[in-house]
Amino acid sequence: MTEIDLQQAAKDHLWLHFTRMSSYETSDVPVIVRGEGPYVYDDKGKRYLDGLAGLFVSMAGHGRTKIAEAAAKQASELAYFPLWSYAHPAAIKLADRLADLAPGDLNRVFFTTSGSEAVESAWKLAKAYFKLKGEPTRYKVISRDLAYHGTSMGALAVTGLADIKPDFEPLPPGGVRVPNTNFYRAPDFVSQDLEQFGIWAADEIERAILREGPQTVAAVYVEPVQNSGGCFPPPPGYFQRVREICDRYGVLMVSDEVICAFGRLGHYFGAERYGYLPDVITFAKGVTSGYSPLGGMIVRDEIMEPFRSGTATFLHGITFAGHPVSAAVALANLDIFEEEDLLGNVRKNEAGFRATLEKLTDLPIVGEVRGAGYFYGIELVKDKATKETFDDDESERLLRGFLSHALFDAGLVCRADDRGDPVIQLAPPLICTQEHFDEIEQILRATLTEAWKRM
Ligand SMILES: Cc1ncc(COP(=O)(O)O)c(C=O)c1O
Repeated sequence: MTEIDLQQAAKDHLWLHFTRMSSYETSDVPVIVRGEGPYVYDDKGKRYLDGLAGLFVSMAGHGRTKIAEAAAKQASELAYFPLWSYAHPAAIKLADRLADLAPGDLNRVFFTTSGSEAVESAWKLAKAYFKLKGEPTRYKVISRDLAYHGTSMGALAVTGLADIKPDFEPLPPGGVRVPNTNFYRAPDFVSQDLEQFGIWAADEIERAILREGPQTVAAVYVEPVQNSGGCFPPPPGYFQRVREICDRYGVLMVSDEVICAFGRLGHYFGAERYGYLPDVITFAKGVTSGYSPLGGMIVRDEIMEPFRSGTATFLHGITFAGHPVSAAVALANLDIFEEEDLLGNVRKNEAGFRATLEKLTDLPIVGEVRGAGYFYGIELVKDKATKETFDDDESERLLRGFLSHALFDAGLVCRADDRGDPVIQLAPPLICTQEHFDEIEQILRATLTEAWKRM
């Protein structure tokens, strides 16, 4: 296909996700054709710094022939066999390796192909587990305001973004919301002390469990650093308190690490960074650095235990879950993590990344820079002193009308998002170093300065 064909065919036949298709009636669909390290290139040869690792995915960066070769080798040896009653070496080796890397007795791996499936599988597991344990009334899931946990019906019911649900209602019942850990927007009575705020936010989970009836609650879902809303890190002690609350009421704690696992926070798992032991970790994205799709959940021994005897069966499965090519790709990806010490690179450079982004706080539009590891949100405000945010119209003009295109045109892939308050999010490949942070800062500085002039 020629360049023109690609553009026209995209407009005629491709349906882009979470995208106003009408916006491409008057402009080109961006077509990305190749990648190299932390950069991607479009069909006109223009280079972009991939400041979002695609979609929080490309941990090892682009153009890794070693991973591509592992995929080719596996495809020629055994392209496909299901995990329904059978096993294959790549899935076995990867399960073994993940059990080794995961904290505590998180030793059992159930593969999926995506994050939504992982989230939904964990909910199904929690329900089935409690039925086997003789507590059949536990089915509800608690998650945090604005938190994104996926789009399939079950995962959408766990998701805390009210605006993306109405088109698909009714959703499976049982989704319950509690506050997130956005300290920048903390209620007044806990806005002076981060730890107090964390205790309050965790205790809101307890209050929700009591309100709903503990015997009806199956699981609490938390991300180590909440993505949606703009990278909310946990206050000190927050997760320890959430763990205590879950234990007190016999509720499973699910750490949704679809974004935060595999180095995003400088550790294989976010739970490790923040020192808590969840009952289930859900993962996807970075496990393969995107060279092939894969997701899954890692489950503690005691949650698996009731499924080990007699006729007990987890009646759940997905044709392509744990696909041999994806599993081989994940193993090659994890080899690169070790050989190049990608976690070490994040830990060594995260302070520099943060400091570089924090330079932007001298701009009138930048309210706060927050996050951890290689995962930051920059909240944009109308008034720094009062933290006044933009109204819906202004936000629309600022983000969709200007920033999203302008940042991309300036050579930076990142996310300008207003699902909570307006934020710009950055999550570059883990191979990035100071030169890339500087490049990000320069593009953001110029573009945000222009955005402020236009408001
Ligand atoms: C925390 C979290 N959970 C689940 C998902 C859903 O993953 P997927 O898009 O692979 O279904 C995402 C996607 O961004 C996510 O960030």
